[in-house]
Amino acid sequence: MPSQQTNAPSFVKNAKLIAWVADMAALTQPDNIYWCDGSDEEYARLCQQLVDAGTFKKLNPAKRPNSFLACSDPSDVARVEDRTYICSEKKENAGPTNNWMAPLEMRATLQPLFAGCMKGRTMYVVPFSMGPLGSHISHIGIELTDSAYVAVNQKIMTRMGKAVYDVLGADGAFVPCMHTVGAPLAAGQADVKWPCNSTKYIVHFPETREIWSYGSGYGGNALLGKKCFALRIASNMGRDQGWLAEHMLILGVTNPQGKKYHVAAAFPSACGKTNFSMLVPPAGFEGWKVTTIGDDIAWIKPHADGKMYAINPEAGYFGVAPGTNFHTNPNCMASLDKNVIFTNVALTDDGDVWWEGMEQDGGGLPAHLIDWQGKDWTPEIARATGAKAAHPNSRFTVAAGNNPALDPEWDNPAGVAIDAFIFGGRRSTTVPLVTESRNWMEGVYMAATMGSETTAAAVGQMGVVRRDPFAMLPFCGYNMSDYFQHWLDMEHKLEAQGHTLPKIFCVNWFRKDAAGKFVWPGYGENMRVLKWMIDRLEGTAQGVETMFGVAPLFDELTWTGLPFSAEQFSTVTSIDKAAWAEELKLHATHFEQLSYHLPQALLDTKAVLEQRLNA
Ligand code: GTP
Ligand code: SPV
Ligand code: MN
Repeated sequence: MPSQQTNAPSFVKNAKLIAWVADMAALTQPDNIYWCDGSDEEYARLCQQLVDAGTFKKLNPAKRPNSFLACSDPSDVARVEDRTYICSEKKENAGPTNNWMAPLEMRATLQPLFAGCMKGRTMYVVPFSMGPLGSHISHIGIELTDSAYVAVNQKIMTRMGKAVYDVLGADGAFVPCMHTVGAPLAAGQADVKWPCNSTKYIVHFPETREIWSYGSGYGGNALLGKKCFALRIASNMGRDQGWLAEHMLILGVTNPQGKKYHVAAAFPSACGKTNFSMLVPPAGFEGWKVTTIGDDIAWIKPHADGKMYAINPEAGYFGVAPGTNFHTNPNCMASLDKNVIFTNVALTDDGDVWWEGMEQDGGGLPAHLIDWQGKDWTPEIARATGAKAAHPNSRFTVAAGNNPALDPEWDNPAGVAIDAFIFGGRRSTTVPLVTESRNWMEGVYMAATMGSETTAAAVGQMGVVRRDPFAMLPFCGYNMSDYFQHWLDMEHKLEAQGHTLPKIFCVNWFRKDAAGKFVWPGYGENMRVLKWMIDRLEGTAQGVETMFGVAPLFDELTWTGLPFSAEQFSTVTSIDKAAWAEELKLHATHFEQLSYHLPQALLDTKAVLEQRLNA
């Protein structure tokens, strides 16, 4: 193919885009360039192509209409944090929590990897909008990828297609997102089901707002609108322009009188955002309603009226499958009844999908499955070997429109006004069920020092507590301490408008008892905690002061329909002085690591907490 010939269709008018595609084609040397239009016809065609290539298995249409199962290479199952780089000009601007390489050095590293990397493949040009098309808060990205799997996932996860070019026009700006699986094909070489490369690079150039991803076809490594753009690049945009890009779900909660509140909540990966955003209130909460605006990412902007408005930049959910069932998340299960791409779950003998947790839906364990690696799975094999039918980080990709609890405002370009922020990690001990910060400063402290046990969402050791400030450890695209300051600055931005700030709460659904069992029932029962938060907003719950914020009294939670004793309540809410003395030592170490530009106010707040603990 002549290098400068991109065959751009007539609806593409952006000269910069066409020139960039030509340059990238010259570099990566694909056999073809295909410009996605985002149509349903195109989606069906690409899915069929993936079926023909063996990447997709079409599920039984009687069980799961228009749905597919992809099983990845076993080496490519999650985000690769140790291969993720923020290549700012200065190392200090990436900060101690990010991998860094000088931009020139990284470009020199990537150049030979990308040279010819698409040989034998098609380059898909994937135009997408993060946020409603044409909204002043939205941003456009163009992903060039040699993966049809990525193209069809992007159709679900973003507003993808031709209309993006109309918004882009002749000279509009876009974030260039370069992606390859890093598996060129020689002439006549047969492809594999899931091409990828053992060398991986997930690279961000924050100053020039570019993304380069090499070697992985999975999730956040490859669907570049999500973590790479909407969090790592957008956090840089937000710092420069005065807004926030956050790893947060956004939900609406409406009380029986019809009054609606909006809550944004940050939990680390695989710690319950999708679940909480689709919560079904339990018995005892008749008339209450929870609706989903977003399940993973929020872009939040202070507005002239003094409130903070949040939008969900995504258009679909890439959610954790294991643990999801009709008991834990009925709305999610209903979302998955058709038009879904499943990745790394198990296949049933009748052509449907299965994952760990589904046995609780009444059917028990299936007698036989094909597991995510294509091997036979039976309950006997599982007992003997511990083999999981579905990979612990297996996921579904589904459009927001499938969600029966979708909030009518989810697509509103103006966003929704946030009444409260929640921060929650996965902690077996120490951190209580819920407390409210006494002020903005203390809330930022709670978020900045949040710890969480690691999950299967990232490659690496599981279950170890690490500090995950604001659930943004793998996603903040600049120096973490500068990000803390950016959050602190919001207080004054909003107070200047005379508005009451959103309240900030800290939660932990994951405390365990001595036997290692979760003490708090979680899932829908989290409504009881959410209701207390609203009572706090309304000023009807008094709470009690603790060293770590204001906690609920036992009687302030609605217990209708749940047998939960004051003793059990104390197991999830107690504050163990010795454990907190240790915890504060960990905060100290954390702050030492972040000492460059660390706001003094955080150290001052820590000193106050220590005084309270020792009082
Ligand atoms: P990412 O998509 O990785 O950002 O994750 P997420 O925060 O959206 O996580 P998700 O809601 O998919 O939940 C992940 C896991 O946490 C699932 O296995 C759930 O079953 C489990 N989980 C969610 N909510 C609760 C809860 O309230 N209690 C307990 N014990 N587990 C929960
Ligand atoms: C996460 O890990 O927080 C996710 C999944 O939401 S991924 O898109 O793979 O990053
Ligand atoms: Mn996430």
